[in-house]
Amino acid sequence: MITDTCFAVGPWALRETWLKLDLLPQSESVFALSNGHVGWRGNLDEGEPHGLPGSYLNGFHELHPLPYAEAGYGYPESGQTAINVTNGKIIRLLVDDAPFDLRYGRLRSHERVLDMRCGVLHRTCEWTSPAGRTVRVRSTRLVSFTQRSIATVAYEVEAVDTPVRIVVQSELVANEQLPTVAGDPRTAVALESPLEAEEDLAMGNHLRLIHCTRSSKLRIAAAADHSVQGPEPTQTSSESNADVARLTVTSLLAPGQKLRIEKTVAYGWSRFRSLPAVRDQVEAALAAAGSTGWQGLADEQQSYLDEFWARSDVEVDGDEEIQQAVRFALFHVLQAGARAEQRAIPAKGLTGTGYDGHSFWDTETFVLPLLTYTSPGAVAEALRWRQSTLPTARDRARQLGLRGAAFPWRTIDGAECTAYWPAGTAAFHVNADIADAVVRYVSATGDQDFERTSGVELLVETARLWMSLGHHDHRGTFHIDGVTGPDEYSAVADDNTYTNLMAARNLTEAAEAAERHPHQATALSVDDEETAAWRDAAEAMHLPYNDELRVHEQHAGFTGHQPWDFAATRPDQYPLLLHFPYFDIYRKQVVKQADLVLAMYTCGEAFDTGHKARNFDYYEPLTVRDSSLSACCQAVIAAEVGHEKLAYDYTVEAALMDLDDLENNTRDGLHIASLAGTWMALVCGFGGMRHHGDTLSFMPRLPEKLSRLAFHLEIWGRRLGVEIKTGIATYTLLAGPSMTIRHHGEALTLTADSPTSRPVPDATEHPAPEQPPGRRPGHPQQRRARL
Ligand code: BGC
Repeated sequence: MITDTCFAVGPWALRETWLKLDLLPQSESVFALSNGHVGWRGNLDEGEPHGLPGSYLNGFHELHPLPYAEAGYGYPESGQTAINVTNGKIIRLLVDDAPFDLRYGRLRSHERVLDMRCGVLHRTCEWTSPAGRTVRVRSTRLVSFTQRSIATVAYEVEAVDTPVRIVVQSELVANEQLPTVAGDPRTAVALESPLEAEEDLAMGNHLRLIHCTRSSKLRIAAAADHSVQGPEPTQTSSESNADVARLTVTSLLAPGQKLRIEKTVAYGWSRFRSLPAVRDQVEAALAAAGSTGWQGLADEQQSYLDEFWARSDVEVDGDEEIQQAVRFALFHVLQAGARAEQRAIPAKGLTGTGYDGHSFWDTETFVLPLLTYTSPGAVAEALRWRQSTLPTARDRARQLGLRGAAFPWRTIDGAECTAYWPAGTAAFHVNADIADAVVRYVSATGDQDFERTSGVELLVETARLWMSLGHHDHRGTFHIDGVTGPDEYSAVADDNTYTNLMAARNLTEAAEAAERHPHQATALSVDDEETAAWRDAAEAMHLPYNDELRVHEQHAGFTGHQPWDFAATRPDQYPLLLHFPYFDIYRKQVVKQADLVLAMYTCGEAFDTGHKARNFDYYEPLTVRDSSLSACCQAVIAAEVGHEKLAYDYTVEAALMDLDDLENNTRDGLHIASLAGTWMALVCGFGGMRHHGDTLSFMPRLPEKLSRLAFHLEIWGRRLGVEIKTGIATYTLLAGPSMTIRHHGEALTLTADSPTSRPVPDATEHPAPEQPPGRRPGHPQQRRARL
C-alpha cells in the first residue's frame, strides 16, 4: 500500500501526502500510536470515515465461547478477545451547518506525518464544505511514554477565507459500532457492545465514562479534560449518557482566527479494583498530566525518544526505504513493548485486533531479543508477566498430564486460547523460547536480582515440563515426541530439532541457575538428583540427521516424506493452509516458516559451517514463507552462509511487511515480530552479531546494496557502537568499562580510548539455492524511487 505515491520516503518520518480512503484500514495500523499500555489506531480525529475504529488497553479483553465441531479433552472452553475500548480520540467538527467529513465537499490538501523522533502523529488538512466554507484543521496526537495512562490531542481549526461558525464535539464513546466481521456468530454476539455502563459524567470541560465487560468482568474508566482557546465568544457545554460523554464548543471564527482544543484522556482498568478506586485512578492520572501540560507532555515524549534512539538507532546507507523501514520497525516495537509492564506484548501490539489481540512465542523469540539489547527494562517486565501467569501454566500442565508449567500458545491473560491444538497446545517450544529469553536477558544485563526472583522459577518449571514430555529410549537417548515445531506445516512430529535443541538449553540453564541460587531452588523443591537428570537429558538429546544427505532433519523422518508438488501449486494457492487440507500438508515436505533454519540461528553452536550451508540449501526449496516470521530468520542464515543478495531480499521482505502490506492484512494490525525481525536481519544478519553467555561476536559483511550499516547495543552495562562500511568494521565503546568481543573469530579488547577497526574479509559467494516456484523473495510491487 505504501508503494502508493501518496507515501513519501524519509529517514525519520512516515509521511502520507494525500488521503486515500481505500487505504484507511492499512494507514490506521501504520499510524497507530501506543505505549504498550494504551493503543490508539490512526483513525481520523472526526471518527469517520474509518477502516476499523480502534482504542485498546493492554490486557483488556472479553471472553467468548470457543467453537468446536467435536469436543475433546483439554480443549480450552473459552476464548479471549481484545476489545475496542472507550474511544477518546473523537473530535467531531461542524463547519457552519456541514459535518466535516472528507467524503463530502472538497479536500484541498491532507497530510499525516508519523514523526518517529518526537513520537507524535501530525495531521494537517484544508477542506471546503459543500456550502463553500473553507477551514484548515491541524492536529497533533500522542500516546505518552512517560505517563502511561495518558493520550492527548491538540486540535486546531482555522477559518480560511470567510467567517465560519464552528462547533466542535469532543467525545468519549463506548461500544462504538464496528464493521461486522465474518466468523463464528457466538463470538460476534459476545463482542457486540461488550461494555456495560456503570457511570457517566460531564462537568464543565471534564468527561468520564466507566464500564465493565459482561463476562470477563473487567472494569474500565476513561476520563478527559480539555483546555479551550478561541476568540470571544467561544462557548462550551457538556453532557453525558451511558455510552457517550461530550464537550461541545461553539465559536465564530473570522478568516485567520483559530479555535484550539487540547484534549487529554486518561485510561485505567482493573479486574479487582472497585469503581471508586478505578475512577480515582484516572482522575489522578489526569491531574498529573494536567500539571505537566500539553507542551510538557510533548517535551517529555521527545526526551524519552531521544534516549531511545541514542540506545537503539540503526543507520543504513544505500537504501532509503530500508532506513525508513528499520526506524519504523524500531519505533513500533518500542510502542508495543515499552510500557507493557507485566502484561503480554501481543503479536499485533496495540495496533489492531488481528489474532484477537493474543500473544505468542513471537514475543520471546522475535521482540525480546531486540529489546534485550536496546530497552532491557521492558524485557524484565515482559518476563515477569510470564512469571505472573505461572499458576495458570502449572494448572495447564497438570490438565495435560505433565509436570512443571505449560505456557499457552496464544493468550491474553495466561490461559490457553488455542482452538486448534496441533498448531497450538502441541507447539510446546514456546516454553523453551520463554526460558531462552530469560537466559539471554540475564546474560546481557547481569540482572541477578531478576534471575533470583523470576528467572530460576521460569527455568525450573519449564525444565520440568520437558522432562515429563520427553523420554529416554533403551539406548539412553532422550526424545521429545509428538510436538509441533515453529513450522506449522508439520504437526505432532517426533524430535523436532529446533524444539530439542532449545529444550536442551532450557534443561542445562535451569540446572545452572538452580546451582547459582540454591535458596530459590530449594524453595522450588529442586534437588541434586533432579538437576542431574536435566543435565543427562540435555546431553542425551536426540538430533535427527540424514546420513546420506548429510543434513539435519527438521524432525525425525522429515527428509523421507514426499516433497510437496510445488510445480502444481498455483501462486494464488498460497498460503497453503487456506487451500489444502492440513492432512496433506502435514505428510509432505513443505515448510511454512523457518524451523531448522531458525535453530541454526538460535542454537548456531550445534551446527558446523558445512552443515549450516547444506541445511540451508536443503530447506530453502521447501520453505514457502506463509508466515511473516520467516523472512527475517532466513535473512540471518542466508547472510551467515554467504548468500548476501538473498539475505538482502529477505531483509527487505521483513522490513516492508507492513509498509507495503505484503500479506494483505496490515489492516488487522502490524506484524510486530516481523518488524523486530528487521532489526534481527540487519544486526544479526549483516552485522553477524551472536551473543551466547560471555561471548559477543560479530561476523559483519555488507550486501552490495548497502554502503554502511551502523547500530548500537546495550550489553553488560556497556553501550557499544558498531559501524560497518565496505571492507571495514569499527567498534566503539561508547559507555562503560573495557570489554572483549570477537570479530570474524579474532578477539578484540575495546577500551574507551579509541574505536577499533578491522578489515572485513571478502565473502565466498556461492550460488544461492532456489525457493519454491513463485516464492522467491523480492518485492512483488516494484520498489520505486520515491521522494
Ligand atoms: C505463525 C506463528 C506465529 C503466529 C502469530 C502464525 O502464522 O505460524 O509462528 O506465532 O502466526 O504471529
